Amino acid sequence: MQTKTVRDYIRTIVDFPHEGILFRDVTTLFADPRGMRLAVDQLLDPYVGQRIDKVVGLEARGFILGGAIAHQLSIGFVPIRKKGKLPGAVISEDYQLEYGEAVVEIHHDAIEAGEKVLMVDDLLATGGTAAAGIRLVERLGGEIVGCAFIVDLPDLGGRRKLEELGYDIHALCR
Ligand code: PRP
Ligand code: ADE
Repeated sequence: MQTKTVRDYIRTIVDFPHEGILFRDVTTLFADPRGMRLAVDQLLDPYVGQRIDKVVGLEARGFILGGAIAHQLSIGFVPIRKKGKLPGAVISEDYQLEYGEAVVEIHHDAIEAGEKVLMVDDLLATGGTAAAGIRLVERLGGEIVGCAFIVDLPDLGGRRKLEELGYDIHALCR
């Protein structure tokens, strides 16, 4: 039997949340102990030996990955949430989604100036969410060491856009 790759654990739901969208569903990967371990290990691979002070996860599936990665590195985790969900004082950024518009927020004191930050999420599409997250981290003085995703949808241009801005993008499958 062939060893399963990360891609093999992801399922595709047709027409969710709108007609015409092929939704790449990573809950099947998260639910499998081998899949989850494989994803966390591979997401961290390029950063072994690098200084990372904080993991920042993007709502919602970035929380699951980010928590596991922060635990693995024995460092802190910081959530970036959709507008109105964080209880303390926040800073905000607007962004465009593949299907709609939104605002993301971070606690104003979640990152210290000079901290090295690894940003994680399940999927990179247009890059709007990640770019807004990067702006939040940088406004607090954090330095993005990399952005790690399980899935990259290259046709939507997120990787190209973020790489043109000079960020290191790591994705486990396309
Ligand atoms: C999805 C995904 C990323 C984002 C990627 O989240 O988990 O966060 O879209 O799209 P982009 O690269 O075009 O910005 P979604 O906005 O659906 O939110 P959710 O995780 O809260 O469901
Ligand atoms: N977020 C944006 N586009 C997506 C897609 N096609 N599958 C899963 N999450 C997404």
